[in-house]
Amino acid sequence: MSDLMAVILAAGKGTRMKSALPKVLHQVGGRPMVQHVIDAAVKAGAAQNIVVIGFGADQVRDCLGDQTEYAVQEQQLGTGHAILQAKKAIGDFSGTILVLCGDTPLLRSETLKALFQAHCQNQAEATVLTARLPNPTGYGRVIRDDKGQVLRIVEQKDASLAELACDEVNTGIYCFQKAALFSALDQITCENQQGEYYLTDVLEILVADGSRVGAVPVGDNQEMLGINSRVQLAEAEKILRSRTLTELMDNGVTIMDPASTFVDAGVSVGPDTVIYPFTWLEGSTVIGANCQIGPNTRLQNAVIGDDTTIHFSYGHDCHVGDHATLGPYVHLRPGADLGPGVKVGNFVEVKNSHVGANSKLPHLSYIGDTDIGERVNIGCGTVTVNYDGLKKHRTTIEDDAFIGCNSNLVAPVTVCKGAYVGAGSTITKEVPAHALGVARARQTNLTGWVDKRIK
Ligand code: UD1
Ligand code: CA
Repeated sequence: MSDLMAVILAAGKGTRMKSALPKVLHQVGGRPMVQHVIDAAVKAGAAQNIVVIGFGADQVRDCLGDQTEYAVQEQQLGTGHAILQAKKAIGDFSGTILVLCGDTPLLRSETLKALFQAHCQNQAEATVLTARLPNPTGYGRVIRDDKGQVLRIVEQKDASLAELACDEVNTGIYCFQKAALFSALDQITCENQQGEYYLTDVLEILVADGSRVGAVPVGDNQEMLGINSRVQLAEAEKILRSRTLTELMDNGVTIMDPASTFVDAGVSVGPDTVIYPFTWLEGSTVIGANCQIGPNTRLQNAVIGDDTTIHFSYGHDCHVGDHATLGPYVHLRPGADLGPGVKVGNFVEVKNSHVGANSKLPHLSYIGDTDIGERVNIGCGTVTVNYDGLKKHRTTIEDDAFIGCNSNLVAPVTVCKGAYVGAGSTITKEVPAHALGVARARQTNLTGWVDKRIK
């Protein structure tokens, strides 16, 4: 069992976001910002997480589910008060409490590990993560004595002019020894400019007690960027995006134009894949090696094999095998599952359908609720008629079948192995193996018809 538990403060409204959505649920890199914080805590070794919720508590709970525990802070009376609300959920855990804020999505797990390590090595009761900022305005300042020992943290609104000149700030991230934290929290008051119970006051109380209070500087100031406004949200998005793209490039992915490429933090891409401009890879998308993706392609929760090409297309909750070629203008909807070597061309939509190896759907088709075998050729303009107005039905097209252009296959219906469907047919009955199914009016030619009409 890990000796580390994270408490993530996320009860505030985030007034400056001007949003009905709680601030911590706004997305950065395709995930709610508090999710990034939870992920960093888990990666740093926190075996248990408690998120302190208040504003929009139900929304936050619905969004995060049971990956974490919750403590509710009905009224936001300050960061110290927020931690006190988690006391019950913390229970008899006796190790280190890692305090985090839900609005710092750029935080790295390595930084948290380093903080926890320093905290353990120094056998400290409290260790605060600090940063030196060219403009420290708004942050709590870290006040040290002449030997460099941390004495206390003073909030902007409570600081003297001399204290305001200090450029070392509190990131709002700390490790605390649990018993020391709660015995100090019992002593804090709200006698300050904001009338709040400040968590930061714990440090001064611990120092007075003779406890060990340490500080660790953050390596990269960007990590502590707290999101309070939409402008800061966009800044964080940009930073996170560039981090994700850099990581992909470091792992052998070519990104032609990072400025127009948008990849969510959870996406993985194999080596030697080339991503062309104006491409979005989102959610849990996985791209194999040696693919060509884009330009102008958006994939959400898509799993793509190796050596596959997809351009000018949109796919969501779908799977594409190796050596496939898609595009331009393909729409893969949920449940589209394309086998290896499949070719899908322009203006083809596939939904909830399996397409077997090496089958071709080159132009202008709708394939819904269908099982297509291997080496099938779907002629231009084929429609699987899957909906009768009440229910959806499945179509089956077996191996080596050939569907002529502009056919309707009215489900439930099967075109058996190696069968042909004549162009322009509306097929409502099974076509047996190796048969030709034709279902259209025979052509009649009226000789001399045009001349008679002109007379
Ligand atoms: C806090 C610190 C400050 C530090 C800064 C870093 C205190 C008193 N001050 O200030 O030293 O420089 O963070 O960003 O701690 N929250 C609750 N319940 C509350 C109050 C806040 O859950 O009652 C949550 C907020 O949702 C937010 C986090 O705690 O996620 C920080 O609160 P915020 O009001 O932003 O703190 P600051 O005033 O910025
Ligand atoms: Ca505040």
